[in-house]
Amino acid sequence: METIVTLGELLAQGAIAGKRVLIRADLNVPLDAQGEITDDTRIRASAPAIRQCLDAGASVMVTSHLGRPVEGERALRDSLAPVCRRLSELLGQDVRLLAHWTSGQFAVAPGQVVMLENCRLNVGESKNSDTLARAIAALCDVYVNDAFGTAHRKEATTYGVAQYAPLVCAGPLMAAEIEALHRALDAPRRPLLAIVAGSKVSTKLTILQSLASKVDQLIVGGGIANTFMLAAGLPIGKSLAEPGLVEEARRIIDTMRARGAAVPIPEDVVVAKTLSADAEARVVDAAEVAEDDLILDIGPRTAEKLAAQIAQAGTIVWNGPVGVFEIEQFGQGTRALAEAIAASRAFSVAGGGDTLAAIARYGIADRIDYISTGGGAFLELLEGKTLPALAILAHRTAQSMLAPESEAF
Ligand code: 3PG
Ligand code: MG
Repeated sequence: METIVTLGELLAQGAIAGKRVLIRADLNVPLDAQGEITDDTRIRASAPAIRQCLDAGASVMVTSHLGRPVEGERALRDSLAPVCRRLSELLGQDVRLLAHWTSGQFAVAPGQVVMLENCRLNVGESKNSDTLARAIAALCDVYVNDAFGTAHRKEATTYGVAQYAPLVCAGPLMAAEIEALHRALDAPRRPLLAIVAGSKVSTKLTILQSLASKVDQLIVGGGIANTFMLAAGLPIGKSLAEPGLVEEARRIIDTMRARGAAVPIPEDVVVAKTLSADAEARVVDAAEVAEDDLILDIGPRTAEKLAAQIAQAGTIVWNGPVGVFEIEQFGQGTRALAEAIAASRAFSVAGGGDTLAAIARYGIADRIDYISTGGGAFLELLEGKTLPALAILAHRTAQSMLAPESEAF
């Protein structure tokens, strides 16, 4: 794991007091048609970094992207205004929203915090414009990247600013996210069990390949499991699958088998003739799926077996529901696994949009050890990819260790 200076370390050194601190957070929260926030998890998760800097007497600027607006085109729906109001409530102090801020024509007093409007409205943000990055870096003495959810993007506020700001560090959320995933994947308590589910093997192929060399059990679900069932020679009717990836699935099964590890293939499944809320769900043996059946969940015998494996696990990494859990009669498999994970003594880590929705639906959030705020970033870390935002923080950390005097304390 790369060494990255953290905000906690800088606070302990007294390097934050009286400084102009720019925090890049990921406050990209879902909004409804009225522009109301429907889930404020990311704002709550980002508050500690801001609070810590305020408490240390810094002048705090916080920015984030919201959605994927067209750069240079300001529309009301792209404004961080609702986010700013929510942050203000959470901090119990006024947070001013600044629309045009890259020129630095504004003042922030120590102990105050301003929000810098949607950074993706700035021309050059997504392409990591060097000019923009230098201008933003010039606003601060210290740059804190706490935006784990955007760590897989190489943009001006996630990468370029980290190149040029006098002093840089990872915020507490960023640090916690990385620590949890490294704890789960680098030196895990065994057995290490991963659940990777979702509609397509193709979108998760590199994750499956990367995990195949690490985990003791790789539980696949959803459309991914259907492709693995095909690879095992089982009928899948008209279920969603990718026949072109059956060879890949076989290779993953073989890689795992050669290490004494396994991809458990469902013994029974829940099928229906249509994917709809009023469809009749039937439990059938995996070998008995009819030509006009759709597999929409794992069956109860399979769920029970997997739950027993989960109970024995030392570490669990969970991404993706194993059935169409949004529809009650196809949600029993995901519910059973969710409850088994909650009851397990394993260190458990979960992430991804659908997974978070399942966790909320079955009310087990407080019994998962770590729930990631990242979607794409969480998946890329699972894939073993280097996240650009982390790479530049690690690079700066390495540089500062070689020549500490060059840092602008
Ligand atoms: C997310 O919601 O996954 C992050 O905020 C990143 O957003 P992006 O996919 O638009 O870069
Ligand atoms: Mg646990």
